[in-house]
Amino acid sequence: MDSTGHSAQPTPAWDRPRTAVVTGAGSGLGAAIAHRLAAEGARVGVTDVDIESATTVAADIAEAGGGAIAVEMDVGDQGSIKAGMSDVREAFGPITILVNNAGITPSAKFLEIDGETFDRVMAVNLRGPFQCCQAVVPDMIGAGWGRIVNISSSSAQTGNARMAHYAASKGGLISLTRSLALDLGRKGITVNTIPPGFVETPSLHAAAEAGELGEGIHQHIPTTPMRRVGQPEDIAAAVAFLVRDEADYITGQVLGVNGGRTIV
Ligand SMILES: NC(=O)c1ccc[n+]([C@@H]2O[C@H](COP(=O)([O-])OP(=O)(O)OC[C@H]3O[C@@H](n4cnc5c(N)ncnc54)[C@H](O)[C@@H]3O)[C@@H](O)[C@H]2O)c1
Repeated sequence: MDSTGHSAQPTPAWDRPRTAVVTGAGSGLGAAIAHRLAAEGARVGVTDVDIESATTVAADIAEAGGGAIAVEMDVGDQGSIKAGMSDVREAFGPITILVNNAGITPSAKFLEIDGETFDRVMAVNLRGPFQCCQAVVPDMIGAGWGRIVNISSSSAQTGNARMAHYAASKGGLISLTRSLALDLGRKGITVNTIPPGFVETPSLHAAAEAGELGEGIHQHIPTTPMRRVGQPEDIAAAVAFLVRDEADYITGQVLGVNGGRTIV
């Protein structure tokens, strides 16, 4: 560092080792986020309701030289959340980075969305992140430092036909983010949300195959300033930035990572 406080060396992400939990990390965005955080030097709890996929991702991270443990965790079940977080804590110590990524994306005509489906979507997409935060915020308060990133959806900003329940759950996640930022700022904990638009993942391909995306995955390219479909690594890069030490003054924010599509 020179006399002006500038350094020619890249700043490390953290001034000490950090333990991260990524939910729904067996596939798509979650897997890319887990890989990226491990590459940054975090020890990562790769959690998913599907333990086989989580095990594969954790093994891939280990093979690449990173620290990871696969843990079965259903975010729709508070007992499973508590047990899963304990497993990660036991392996790697207090959890000070949480990425609430797990989500389900059912689609149906409004009048055909029954109460059971609505409740399941809310349980996984909104109550899950809420209870994951409750499970790890004590660790963050203890450390005087924490980072929470909630993966919401551009559907929450624009609305989404045939996905009223999903969009409502993700809108709740944006409100949860802003409220927690107010609650937790003084504890050194930041809380932000990334609402992806179209990102090429297994769930997006499944939606396209089911005919849910109109003309398909590539239909938005002409109206996307960056002229391409989003990739999981685009979201992972934004998460990696938000959880760094130096992102300490960014909280309560909605960071659109969508190739520049205007969201109203
Ligand atoms: N792909 C996109 O274009 C896009 C756009 C907007 C928002 N999102 C959001 O990003 C997140 C990840 O989406 P994706 O496209 O990678 O999906 P994906 O289906 O590829 O991966 C989701 C992962 O979550 C896991 N999961 C499902 N239910 C779970 C539960 N109850 N507990 C724990 N894990 C569970 C699945 O097993 C899977 O591994 C979701 O919250 C989704 O709503 C994605």
